[in-house]
Amino acid sequence: MSARTQIVRVDPLQPDSESIGIASRVIATGRLVAFPTETVYGLGANAFDPLAVDRIFAAKRRPFSDPLIVHLARAHLLDQVAIDIPPPVWDLAGHFWPGPLTLVLHRAAKVAPNVSAGRHTVAVRVPSHPVAHALLERSGLPIAAPSANLFSRPSPTTASDVIEDLDGRIDMVLDGGSATIGLESTVLDMTHDPPRLLRPGGVSIEALCDLLPDLHTGTAATVSSADVPQQSPGMLLKHYAPRIPMVLLRGDLNSAAPTLHQAVSFLKRRGVFPGLLVTDEEVPLYADLCVEMVALGPGADKEQLARSLFAGVRELERLGVDMILAREVEPIGLGVAINDRLFRAAAGRVLDVADAVSFEQFFSRFDMMMKPGRHPPFADCA
Ligand code: TXA
Ligand code: MG
Repeated sequence: MSARTQIVRVDPLQPDSESIGIASRVIATGRLVAFPTETVYGLGANAFDPLAVDRIFAAKRRPFSDPLIVHLARAHLLDQVAIDIPPPVWDLAGHFWPGPLTLVLHRAAKVAPNVSAGRHTVAVRVPSHPVAHALLERSGLPIAAPSANLFSRPSPTTASDVIEDLDGRIDMVLDGGSATIGLESTVLDMTHDPPRLLRPGGVSIEALCDLLPDLHTGTAATVSSADVPQQSPGMLLKHYAPRIPMVLLRGDLNSAAPTLHQAVSFLKRRGVFPGLLVTDEEVPLYADLCVEMVALGPGADKEQLARSLFAGVRELERLGVDMILAREVEPIGLGVAINDRLFRAAAGRVLDVADAVSFEQFFSRFDMMMKPGRHPPFADCA
Protein backbone atom coordinates (compact mmCIF):
# COMPACT_ATOMS: atom_id res chain seq x y z
CA MET A 1 0.00 0.00 0.00
CA SER A 2 1.28 3.48 -0.88
CA ALA A 3 1.26 6.46 1.42
CA ARG A 4 0.82 8.85 -1.44
CA THR A 5 -0.57 8.47 -4.94
CA GLN A 6 1.27 10.50 -7.55
CA ILE A 7 -1.04 12.00 -10.18
CA VAL A 8 0.63 12.83 -13.50
CA ARG A 9 -1.27 14.56 -16.28
CA VAL A 10 -0.58 13.37 -19.78
CA ASP A 11 -1.84 14.36 -23.20
CA PRO A 12 -4.29 11.57 -24.10
CA LEU A 13 -3.29 11.58 -27.76
CA GLN A 14 0.45 12.28 -27.47
CA PRO A 15 1.64 11.33 -24.00
CA ASP A 16 5.07 12.81 -23.23
CA SER A 17 8.00 10.49 -23.05
CA GLU A 18 9.09 11.66 -19.58
CA SER A 19 5.77 10.80 -17.89
CA ILE A 20 5.55 7.45 -19.66
CA GLY A 21 9.15 6.75 -18.63
CA ILE A 22 8.34 7.39 -14.95
CA ALA A 23 5.22 5.19 -15.14
CA SER A 24 7.04 2.35 -16.84
CA ARG A 25 9.74 2.40 -14.13
CA VAL A 26 6.98 2.14 -11.49
CA ILE A 27 5.64 -0.93 -13.33
CA ALA A 28 9.13 -2.42 -13.77
CA THR A 29 9.81 -2.13 -10.03
CA GLY A 30 6.71 -4.12 -9.11
CA ARG A 31 4.44 -1.18 -8.26
CA LEU A 32 0.99 -0.09 -9.44
CA VAL A 33 0.03 2.50 -12.07
CA ALA A 34 -3.55 3.40 -13.03
CA PHE A 35 -3.80 4.46 -16.66
CA PRO A 36 -6.50 5.36 -19.17
CA THR A 37 -7.62 2.84 -21.73
CA GLU A 38 -10.29 3.39 -24.38
CA THR A 39 -12.79 1.41 -22.22
CA VAL A 40 -12.19 2.42 -18.58
CA TYR A 41 -9.13 3.20 -16.44
CA GLY A 42 -7.03 0.13 -15.64
CA LEU A 43 -4.87 -0.60 -12.58
CA GLY A 44 -1.65 -2.03 -13.98
CA ALA A 45 1.16 -4.25 -12.70
CA ASN A 46 3.82 -6.41 -14.34
CA ALA A 47 1.98 -9.62 -15.31
CA PHE A 48 5.17 -11.68 -14.88
CA ASP A 49 5.63 -10.60 -11.25
CA PRO A 50 3.33 -12.39 -8.76
CA LEU A 51 4.14 -9.96 -5.91
CA ALA A 52 3.21 -6.97 -8.07
CA VAL A 53 0.00 -8.74 -9.11
CA ASP A 54 -0.84 -9.42 -5.46
CA ARG A 55 -0.67 -5.66 -4.87
CA ILE A 56 -3.51 -5.17 -7.40
CA PHE A 57 -5.79 -7.51 -5.45
CA ALA A 58 -4.89 -5.81 -2.18
CA ALA A 59 -5.40 -2.26 -3.51
CA LYS A 60 -8.79 -3.10 -5.04
CA ARG A 61 -9.87 -5.40 -2.19
CA ARG A 62 -10.60 -7.86 -4.96
CA PRO A 63 -11.09 -11.56 -4.17
CA PHE A 64 -8.11 -13.64 -5.33
CA SER A 65 -10.58 -15.91 -7.15
CA ASP A 66 -11.33 -13.24 -9.77
CA PRO A 67 -8.73 -13.34 -12.60
CA LEU A 68 -7.24 -10.28 -14.34
CA ILE A 69 -6.87 -9.23 -17.97
CA VAL A 70 -3.33 -9.07 -19.39
CA HIS A 71 -2.68 -6.15 -21.74
CA LEU A 72 -0.18 -6.29 -24.60
CA ALA A 73 1.31 -3.60 -26.83
CA ARG A 74 0.74 -5.67 -29.99
CA ALA A 75 -0.99 -8.86 -31.10
CA HIS A 76 2.26 -10.53 -32.18
CA LEU A 77 3.35 -10.64 -28.51
CA LEU A 78 0.50 -13.05 -27.77
CA ASP A 79 2.75 -16.10 -27.55
CA GLN A 80 4.56 -14.53 -24.55
CA VAL A 81 1.41 -15.02 -22.49
CA ALA A 82 -0.68 -17.72 -24.23
CA ILE A 83 -0.19 -21.17 -25.79
CA ASP A 84 -2.20 -23.36 -28.22
CA ILE A 85 -3.73 -20.29 -29.83
CA PRO A 86 -6.66 -21.36 -32.07
CA PRO A 87 -6.67 -19.86 -35.61
CA PRO A 88 -9.86 -17.72 -35.20
CA VAL A 89 -7.95 -15.71 -32.58
CA TRP A 90 -5.72 -14.24 -35.29
CA ASP A 91 -8.75 -13.20 -37.36
CA LEU A 92 -10.33 -11.56 -34.32
CA ALA A 93 -7.04 -9.86 -33.45
CA GLY A 94 -6.74 -8.59 -37.03
CA HIS A 95 -10.23 -7.06 -36.90
CA PHE A 96 -10.61 -5.83 -33.34
CA TRP A 97 -7.12 -5.19 -31.95
CA PRO A 98 -6.11 -2.75 -30.79
CA GLY A 99 -9.52 -2.31 -29.19
CA PRO A 100 -12.12 -3.32 -26.60
CA LEU A 101 -12.04 -7.11 -27.08
CA THR A 102 -10.59 -9.55 -24.53
CA LEU A 103 -9.84 -13.16 -25.44
CA VAL A 104 -9.52 -15.99 -22.91
CA LEU A 105 -6.77 -18.40 -24.01
CA HIS A 106 -4.57 -21.12 -22.54
CA ARG A 107 -2.02 -19.51 -20.21
CA ALA A 108 1.74 -19.58 -20.86
CA ALA A 109 3.91 -20.60 -17.90
CA LYS A 110 5.63 -17.21 -17.60
CA VAL A 111 2.44 -15.41 -16.62
CA ALA A 112 2.12 -15.11 -12.84
CA PRO A 113 -0.45 -17.74 -11.78
CA ASN A 114 -2.32 -15.25 -9.57
CA VAL A 115 -3.14 -13.19 -12.71
CA SER A 116 -5.41 -16.09 -13.67
CA ALA A 117 -6.57 -16.86 -10.13
CA GLY A 118 -4.78 -20.20 -10.49
CA ARG A 119 -6.60 -21.18 -13.70
CA HIS A 120 -4.90 -22.58 -16.78
CA THR A 121 -6.37 -19.81 -18.89
CA VAL A 122 -5.47 -16.14 -19.32
CA ALA A 123 -7.55 -13.22 -20.58
CA VAL A 124 -5.67 -10.95 -23.03
CA ARG A 125 -6.31 -7.72 -24.89
CA VAL A 126 -4.42 -5.09 -26.88
CA PRO A 127 -5.80 -1.66 -25.92
CA SER A 128 -5.98 1.17 -28.45
CA HIS A 129 -5.63 4.15 -26.10
CA PRO A 130 -2.36 6.00 -26.91
CA VAL A 131 -1.44 6.28 -23.21
CA ALA A 132 -2.01 2.56 -22.54
CA HIS A 133 -0.14 1.69 -25.72
CA ALA A 134 2.81 3.95 -24.87
CA LEU A 135 3.09 2.48 -21.37
CA LEU A 136 3.02 -1.09 -22.72
CA GLU A 137 5.62 -0.33 -25.41
CA ARG A 138 7.95 1.51 -23.06
CA SER A 139 7.81 -1.01 -20.23
CA GLY A 140 8.29 -3.92 -22.65
CA LEU A 141 6.13 -5.99 -20.31
CA PRO A 142 2.65 -7.48 -20.42
CA ILE A 143 0.57 -5.50 -17.93
CA ALA A 144 -2.16 -7.16 -15.85
CA ALA A 145 -4.88 -4.59 -15.31
CA PRO A 146 -8.40 -4.84 -13.95
CA SER A 147 -10.57 -1.74 -13.85
CA ALA A 148 -9.05 0.77 -11.39
CA ASN A 149 -11.92 0.84 -8.91
CA LEU A 150 -12.54 -0.75 -5.53
CA PHE A 151 -14.05 -4.21 -5.97
CA SER A 152 -17.75 -4.14 -6.96
CA ARG A 153 -17.83 -0.32 -7.42
CA PRO A 154 -18.73 1.38 -10.73
CA SER A 155 -15.74 1.31 -13.11
CA PRO A 156 -13.67 4.53 -13.32
CA THR A 157 -13.85 6.58 -16.50
CA THR A 158 -11.70 9.48 -15.24
CA ALA A 159 -8.59 9.86 -13.10
CA SER A 160 -10.68 11.49 -10.37
CA ASP A 161 -12.91 8.37 -10.24
CA VAL A 162 -9.72 6.37 -9.68
CA ILE A 163 -8.63 8.74 -6.91
CA GLU A 164 -12.09 8.60 -5.31
CA ASP A 165 -11.66 4.83 -4.82
CA LEU A 166 -7.90 4.24 -4.62
CA ASP A 167 -6.12 7.37 -3.32
CA GLY A 168 -3.21 6.30 -1.12
CA ARG A 169 -3.63 2.65 -2.14
CA ILE A 170 -1.70 2.82 -5.44
CA ASP A 171 1.56 4.45 -6.54
CA MET A 172 0.59 6.51 -9.55
CA VAL A 173 -2.24 7.62 -11.82
CA LEU A 174 -1.67 8.77 -15.38
CA ASP A 175 -4.44 11.30 -15.90
CA GLY A 176 -5.31 11.23 -19.59
CA GLY A 177 -8.85 12.61 -19.40
CA SER A 178 -12.04 10.64 -19.93
CA ALA A 179 -12.17 7.12 -21.31
CA THR A 180 -13.80 7.23 -24.74
CA ILE A 181 -15.99 4.09 -24.66
CA GLY A 182 -16.89 4.24 -20.97
CA LEU A 183 -17.60 0.57 -20.33
CA GLU A 184 -15.33 -2.44 -20.34
CA SER A 185 -14.17 -4.72 -23.10
CA THR A 186 -16.18 -7.64 -24.45
CA VAL A 187 -14.77 -10.92 -23.05
CA LEU A 188 -14.80 -14.09 -25.20
CA ASP A 189 -13.70 -17.53 -24.07
CA MET A 190 -11.71 -18.89 -27.00
CA THR A 191 -10.77 -22.12 -25.19
CA HIS A 192 -14.18 -23.51 -26.16
CA ASP A 193 -15.43 -24.45 -29.60
CA PRO A 194 -17.67 -22.66 -30.40
CA PRO A 195 -16.34 -19.63 -28.49
CA ARG A 196 -18.43 -18.23 -25.65
CA LEU A 197 -19.33 -14.70 -24.74
CA LEU A 198 -18.43 -14.19 -21.07
CA ARG A 199 -19.11 -10.46 -20.84
CA PRO A 200 -20.79 -8.10 -23.33
CA GLY A 201 -18.76 -4.91 -23.75
CA GLY A 202 -17.21 -2.38 -26.12
CA VAL A 203 -17.37 -4.65 -29.20
CA SER A 204 -21.02 -5.43 -29.96
CA ILE A 205 -22.34 -8.95 -30.47
CA GLU A 206 -23.52 -7.91 -33.94
CA ALA A 207 -19.93 -6.98 -34.88
CA LEU A 208 -18.59 -10.31 -33.58
CA CYS A 209 -21.18 -12.45 -35.35
CA ASP A 210 -19.74 -11.63 -38.77
CA LEU A 211 -16.48 -13.36 -37.81
CA LEU A 212 -17.90 -15.87 -35.31
CA PRO A 213 -21.31 -16.94 -36.63
CA ASP A 214 -21.50 -19.80 -34.09
CA LEU A 215 -20.60 -17.61 -31.06
CA HIS A 216 -22.38 -18.90 -27.97
CA THR A 217 -23.87 -15.83 -26.30
CA GLY A 218 -26.17 -17.51 -23.77
CA THR A 219 -23.39 -17.90 -21.22
CA ALA A 220 -23.15 -14.22 -20.34
CA ALA A 221 -26.82 -13.34 -20.73
CA THR A 222 -28.45 -16.11 -18.73
CA VAL A 223 -26.01 -16.97 -15.95
CA SER A 224 -27.20 -16.37 -12.43
CA SER A 225 -24.89 -15.51 -9.58
CA ALA A 226 -24.70 -19.20 -8.66
CA ASP A 227 -23.30 -20.62 -11.90
CA VAL A 228 -21.12 -17.70 -12.87
CA PRO A 229 -17.97 -18.69 -10.99
CA GLN A 230 -17.17 -21.59 -13.32
CA GLN A 231 -17.41 -19.41 -16.44
CA SER A 232 -16.29 -15.91 -15.62
CA PRO A 233 -15.69 -15.18 -11.98
CA GLY A 234 -16.02 -11.43 -12.52
CA MET A 235 -19.66 -11.60 -13.57
CA LEU A 236 -21.17 -11.44 -10.13
CA LEU A 237 -24.75 -10.37 -9.78
CA LYS A 238 -23.81 -7.36 -7.67
CA HIS A 239 -21.09 -5.50 -9.52
CA TYR A 240 -20.42 -1.99 -10.78
CA ALA A 241 -22.69 -0.91 -7.93
CA PRO A 242 -23.13 2.50 -6.29
CA ARG A 243 -23.09 2.74 -2.49
CA ILE A 244 -26.82 3.43 -2.56
CA PRO A 245 -29.46 0.98 -3.79
CA MET A 246 -30.40 1.03 -7.46
CA VAL A 247 -33.54 -0.23 -9.20
CA LEU A 248 -33.81 -0.98 -12.90
CA LEU A 249 -37.11 -0.38 -14.70
CA ARG A 250 -37.97 -2.69 -17.55
CA GLY A 251 -40.41 -1.26 -20.10
CA ASP A 252 -40.53 1.16 -23.02
CA LEU A 253 -40.44 4.93 -22.54
CA ASN A 254 -44.22 5.42 -22.64
CA SER A 255 -45.23 2.57 -20.39
CA ALA A 256 -42.40 3.18 -17.90
CA ALA A 257 -43.13 6.89 -17.39
CA PRO A 258 -46.37 6.48 -15.34
CA THR A 259 -44.79 3.69 -13.27
CA LEU A 260 -41.77 5.83 -12.57
CA HIS A 261 -43.95 8.76 -11.48
CA GLN A 262 -45.85 6.52 -9.08
CA ALA A 263 -42.66 4.90 -7.78
CA VAL A 264 -41.07 8.29 -7.06
CA SER A 265 -44.19 9.50 -5.20
CA PHE A 266 -44.32 6.23 -3.25
CA LEU A 267 -40.68 6.54 -2.21
CA LYS A 268 -40.85 10.25 -1.34
CA ARG A 269 -43.84 9.61 0.93
CA ARG A 270 -41.58 7.24 2.82
CA GLY A 271 -38.75 9.74 3.06
CA VAL A 272 -36.63 8.11 0.36
CA PHE A 273 -35.40 10.61 -2.24
CA PRO A 274 -34.46 8.88 -5.46
CA GLY A 275 -32.33 10.21 -8.31
CA LEU A 276 -32.99 9.31 -11.93
CA LEU A 277 -30.54 8.10 -14.55
CA VAL A 278 -32.28 8.98 -17.82
CA THR A 279 -31.90 9.57 -21.54
CA ASP A 280 -32.20 13.15 -22.82
CA GLU A 281 -35.75 12.46 -24.08
CA GLU A 282 -36.89 11.53 -20.58
CA VAL A 283 -35.82 14.77 -18.90
CA PRO A 284 -39.03 16.74 -19.73
CA LEU A 285 -41.21 13.75 -18.78
CA TYR A 286 -39.92 13.82 -15.20
CA ALA A 287 -39.27 17.53 -14.71
CA ASP A 288 -42.41 17.80 -12.53
CA LEU A 289 -41.04 15.28 -10.04
CA CYS A 290 -38.47 17.65 -8.55
CA VAL A 291 -35.82 14.99 -8.14
CA GLU A 292 -32.17 14.92 -9.14
CA MET A 293 -31.74 13.70 -12.72
CA VAL A 294 -28.62 12.84 -14.67
CA ALA A 295 -29.14 12.66 -18.45
CA LEU A 296 -26.79 10.28 -20.24
CA GLY A 297 -27.48 11.38 -23.84
CA PRO A 298 -29.98 10.74 -26.65
CA GLY A 299 -31.59 7.28 -26.32
CA ALA A 300 -30.63 6.32 -29.86
CA ASP A 301 -26.94 7.17 -29.32
CA LYS A 302 -25.75 4.05 -27.49
CA GLU A 303 -22.09 5.17 -27.70
CA GLN A 304 -22.93 8.36 -25.82
CA LEU A 305 -25.03 6.46 -23.24
CA ALA A 306 -22.17 4.02 -22.66
CA ARG A 307 -19.65 6.85 -22.29
CA SER A 308 -21.65 8.58 -19.57
CA LEU A 309 -23.09 5.53 -17.79
CA PHE A 310 -20.63 4.93 -14.94
CA ALA A 311 -19.92 8.65 -14.60
CA GLY A 312 -23.68 9.20 -14.27
CA VAL A 313 -23.99 6.60 -11.53
CA ARG A 314 -21.10 8.17 -9.62
CA GLU A 315 -22.59 11.67 -10.09
CA LEU A 316 -25.96 10.67 -8.60
CA GLU A 317 -24.09 9.11 -5.71
CA ARG A 318 -22.24 12.40 -5.15
CA LEU A 319 -25.51 14.38 -5.34
CA GLY A 320 -26.59 12.56 -2.19
CA VAL A 321 -29.75 10.81 -3.38
CA ASP A 322 -30.99 7.78 -1.41
CA MET A 323 -31.61 5.51 -4.37
CA ILE A 324 -31.06 5.43 -8.12
CA LEU A 325 -33.83 4.61 -10.59
CA ALA A 326 -32.79 3.79 -14.18
CA ARG A 327 -34.49 2.24 -17.19
CA GLU A 328 -33.16 -0.43 -19.54
CA VAL A 329 -32.17 0.73 -23.02
CA GLU A 330 -32.87 -0.96 -26.36
CA PRO A 331 -30.70 -4.09 -26.47
CA ILE A 332 -28.97 -3.32 -29.74
CA GLY A 333 -25.27 -2.54 -30.29
CA LEU A 334 -23.71 -1.28 -27.06
CA GLY A 335 -27.22 -1.39 -25.52
CA VAL A 336 -26.61 -5.04 -24.54
CA ALA A 337 -23.53 -4.13 -22.48
CA ILE A 338 -25.27 -1.05 -21.01
CA ASN A 339 -28.19 -3.20 -19.80
CA ASP A 340 -25.77 -5.77 -18.39
CA ARG A 341 -23.99 -3.08 -16.31
CA LEU A 342 -27.28 -1.51 -15.20
CA PHE A 343 -28.60 -4.92 -14.14
CA ARG A 344 -25.52 -5.70 -12.06
CA ALA A 345 -25.32 -2.18 -10.61
CA ALA A 346 -28.91 -2.77 -9.48
CA ALA A 347 -27.86 -6.18 -8.08
CA GLY A 348 -30.67 -7.71 -10.15
CA ARG A 349 -33.48 -5.53 -8.71
CA VAL A 350 -35.71 -5.21 -11.77
CA LEU A 351 -39.12 -3.56 -11.68
CA ASP A 352 -40.91 -4.79 -14.81
CA VAL A 353 -43.72 -2.37 -15.66
CA ALA A 354 -45.66 -5.29 -17.19
CA ASP A 355 -45.81 -7.06 -13.81
CA ALA A 356 -48.69 -6.09 -11.59
CA VAL A 357 -46.51 -6.00 -8.48
CA SER A 358 -47.34 -3.40 -5.83
CA PHE A 359 -44.60 -0.95 -4.85
CA GLU A 360 -45.22 -1.98 -1.26
CA GLN A 361 -44.32 -5.54 -2.22
CA PHE A 362 -41.48 -4.64 -4.55
CA PHE A 363 -39.59 -2.21 -2.35
CA SER A 364 -40.14 -4.21 0.83
CA ARG A 365 -38.24 -7.14 -0.70
CA PHE A 366 -34.99 -5.22 -0.57
CA ASP A 367 -33.01 -3.44 2.04
CA MET A 368 -33.81 -0.04 0.59
CA MET A 369 -32.50 2.17 3.37
CA MET A 370 -35.93 3.64 4.13
CA LYS A 371 -34.89 6.54 6.31
CA PRO A 372 -37.90 8.65 7.30
CA GLY A 373 -36.97 12.06 8.61
CA ARG A 374 -33.75 12.44 6.66
CA HIS A 375 -33.32 15.87 5.12
CA PRO A 376 -34.08 15.41 1.43
CA PRO A 377 -31.81 16.70 -1.34
CA PHE A 378 -33.84 19.01 -3.59
CA ALA A 379 -33.26 19.42 -7.28
CA ASP A 380 -33.43 22.86 -8.78
CA CYS A 381 -36.93 23.00 -10.33
CA ALA A 382 -36.83 26.63 -11.47
O1 TXA B 1 -12.00 -2.97 -20.65
C1 TXA B 1 -11.54 -3.75 -19.82
O2 TXA B 1 -11.62 -4.98 -19.97
C2 TXA B 1 -10.85 -3.16 -18.59
C3 TXA B 1 -9.61 -2.41 -19.07
C4 TXA B 1 -8.79 -1.90 -17.92
O3 TXA B 1 -8.87 -3.23 -19.92
N1 TXA B 1 -10.51 -4.19 -17.65
C5 TXA B 1 -11.44 -4.85 -16.94
O4 TXA B 1 -10.92 -5.78 -16.07
O5 TXA B 1 -12.64 -4.67 -17.04
P1 TXA B 1 -11.75 -6.43 -14.89
O6 TXA B 1 -10.77 -7.16 -14.07
O7 TXA B 1 -12.56 -5.40 -14.22
O8 TXA B 1 -12.65 -7.49 -15.63
C6 TXA B 1 -12.05 -8.64 -16.16
C7 TXA B 1 -13.11 -9.65 -16.50
C8 TXA B 1 -13.73 -10.24 -15.26
O9 TXA B 1 -15.11 -10.45 -15.50
C9 TXA B 1 -12.96 -11.56 -15.13
O10 TXA B 1 -13.65 -12.54 -14.41
C10 TXA B 1 -12.77 -11.94 -16.58
O11 TXA B 1 -12.51 -10.72 -17.23
N2 TXA B 1 -11.62 -12.84 -16.73
C11 TXA B 1 -10.32 -12.53 -16.58
N3 TXA B 1 -9.55 -13.62 -16.76
C12 TXA B 1 -10.38 -14.64 -17.04
C13 TXA B 1 -10.19 -16.02 -17.31
N4 TXA B 1 -8.97 -16.56 -17.33
N5 TXA B 1 -11.29 -16.78 -17.54
C14 TXA B 1 -12.52 -16.22 -17.52
N6 TXA B 1 -12.77 -14.92 -17.26
C15 TXA B 1 -11.71 -14.15 -17.03
MG1 MG C 1 -13.88 -4.43 -13.11
